[in-house]
Amino acid sequence: TGAALRASFASKAQKENNHNSQPQASYKVAVLGAAGGIGQPLSLLIKMSPLVSNLHLYDIANVKGVAADISHCNTPSQVRDFTGASELPNCLKDVNVVVIPAGVPRKPGMTRDDLFNINAGIVRDLVSAVADYCPDAFVQIISNPVNSTVPIAAEVLKQKGVYDPKKLFGVTTLDVVRANTFVAQRKNLKLIDVDVPVVGGHAGITILPLLSKTRPSASFTDEEIDELTVRIQNAGTEVVEAKAGTGSATLSMAYAAARFVESSLRALDGDGDVYECSFVESNLTDLPFFASRVKLGRTGVEALIPSDLQGLTDYEQKALEALKPELKASIEKGIAFAQKQT
Ligand code: NAD
Ligand code: LMR
Repeated sequence: TGAALRASFASKAQKENNHNSQPQASYKVAVLGAAGGIGQPLSLLIKMSPLVSNLHLYDIANVKGVAADISHCNTPSQVRDFTGASELPNCLKDVNVVVIPAGVPRKPGMTRDDLFNINAGIVRDLVSAVADYCPDAFVQIISNPVNSTVPIAAEVLKQKGVYDPKKLFGVTTLDVVRANTFVAQRKNLKLIDVDVPVVGGHAGITILPLLSKTRPSASFTDEEIDELTVRIQNAGTEVVEAKAGTGSATLSMAYAAARFVESSLRALDGDGDVYECSFVESNLTDLPFFASRVKLGRTGVEALIPSDLQGLTDYEQKALEALKPELKASIEKGIAFAQKQT
């Protein structure tokens, strides 16, 4: 967990002692929704990256102070703030990676789909600007419901004639981070080693941890499998309830998204060994989008790993079939929303 970030931070510390081997800070990253609960800590973590040269922070309000604050950290990137739609084009120009945590979060009693009516339009409009001003960027969607907002983003990019399925990602890293944490705790494993792939989507039963594919391999009783699967699926709700009306996961989400951004930057930088789970256009199942492990490279998704869905246990195979109708409906809802607008 967090191996990418740790490696990057470690290599940064090393470099402070040895200026000659400093990796080039040469990538431009934009955070849309940067003044929010996720946006602020995520922007801070991205500011820590030695690979980032420019960090553009965009929101509809309150972003100036966030940028001024973060800009005082003595790390390589230049931080700039952008407020409101009129400043969005300049924010996006020449950007390599756009991360989108803009939108409203859940309150207790709500599903992620209850956020659709507000967040669908926010994502549509932001991605429309991405299509106009940085069509080659990696686009990473955090805004919920991810199962619908990613298909919306794909449709908008298609309508603008710039859709590259290899460069559009739903950020599901938090599901993996949670799975790794809970499995390591339950099985008394060394956290740093544990990696659990989580596939499907990012809501309720569509979140499917493949415990049988845990590395290093671990054995689970039927009871442990059920308990861990349900906890991972409900972890977002666990945080929403603990926050009691003030929002959903922000800090763990920022950590997870920073890991995904750092992995993407390492891939862009030529590292040939970068794998993350993400909700992407996929042919691994009969659904058009599906979260699974992907190999990241300079051009985005370089490969899906079909073997990840082979040799599943009966429990996992049944859960996979059971999640498909809900995931399909959420994808179709997103596509219909985006197509209705034209
Ligand atoms: P928040 O309300 O604290 O922050 C959202 C920010 O978005 C605010 O600063 C707001 O001004 C901004 N915003 C609203 N409309 C905008 C627009 N049109 N353009 C730019 N910025 C805009 O919410 P949060 O806790 O940061 O959560 C944000 C989203 O992330 C929610 O939809 C939440 O459900 C989702 N989320 C996803 C995951 C995941 O795993 N993918 C995890 C946690 C939260
Ligand atoms: C999460 O998994 O924490 C996010 O999707 C936020 C939420 O609403 O649960």
